[in-house]
Amino acid sequence: MKALLNVNPILWQKDHLYLLDQRKLPDETSMMVLDTAPEVTQAIKDMVVRGAPAIGITAAYGVVLAAKAAYATHPEQWQTQIDKDLQQLAQARPTAVNLVWALQRMKACFSTIIGNPIPVLLKEAQCIHQEDIAANHVMGTLGAALLPTDCRVLTHCNAGALATGGYGTALGVIRSAFEAKKIIQVYADETRPWLQGARLTAWELLQDNIPVTLLADSAAAALMQQKRIDWVIVGSDRITANGDVANKIGTYSLAVLARQHHIKFMVVAPTSTIDMSLVSGEHIVIEERAMLEVLNNAAEGATAWNPAFDVTPAELVDVIVTEKGIIEAPNTERLLALMR
Ligand code: MRU
Repeated sequence: MKALLNVNPILWQKDHLYLLDQRKLPDETSMMVLDTAPEVTQAIKDMVVRGAPAIGITAAYGVVLAAKAAYATHPEQWQTQIDKDLQQLAQARPTAVNLVWALQRMKACFSTIIGNPIPVLLKEAQCIHQEDIAANHVMGTLGAALLPTDCRVLTHCNAGALATGGYGTALGVIRSAFEAKKIIQVYADETRPWLQGARLTAWELLQDNIPVTLLADSAAAALMQQKRIDWVIVGSDRITANGDVANKIGTYSLAVLARQHHIKFMVVAPTSTIDMSLVSGEHIVIEERAMLEVLNNAAEGATAWNPAFDVTPAELVDVIVTEKGIIEAPNTERLLALMR
């Protein structure tokens, strides 16, 4: 099976960063070219690129662009010159820990650089990108091995090639299991209000000829009640030390529903999504987005609450799949053992 698409969602070519503009999918596949770190910050904020690992990779290339501009004007002080750019990148979206993880990894290279920083920084950004793709393939295999034959799965949001360096986390497992002929039915929540499921997951799976059935988010309960789902498979934006999982708003309700209906709940995320500095999910900063995303078609005068993510307590998670191995019934001890 091909890795996905003939379009690269994140591409570095000839000193420019290209992003597939995810706001325009599925109607249009157009690439946006970015030449400065502030442009990268804005693109992350505006969700031209979205999904925790993809945000991290994009920010890493943003550091390259920041250093390129600073080195051209202040070759001796490029590191101090890019401070502001790095701070703005770090604050572009608050919940996905992969963003600060990638920036820290880029910063860790600074002390080794003598002279022109671009070759070293570009190599590191490309490494982060390639390692993410490789991690997704490992997780795909590990996660698929947990599924029974004739499996029917439900996913939420888009945790696919579009949300990562390529292949995907939750969709990586679905791709691998589909290829192994274990999956007979993929359901995807449309994922209000931004419709990552309807616009992105459906498009991405259909590019790989994987049939997908969309449902309104509120239909998941009835689907489970009718015994039409075996596993829920989702990605994550941040997993805390005790195994609590932040992911797209609506994930928590799926986990509660899954437990009520004796359906297994799998979270697929690389270790770059695990934040051992936070003891539990209540410490995660949850991004709130513009009311307008919810108020489309609403009665004039209504206001809206629009949290982009929620936190699923670890006790509702049956398994976390990472590139370093799986953690069943996650807790602090098991996460510590994996991350050691
Ligand atoms: O607001 P988004 O579209 O960036 O939210 C994305 C998600 O919630 C994904 O499930 C998560 O980042 C994992 S992507 C592999």
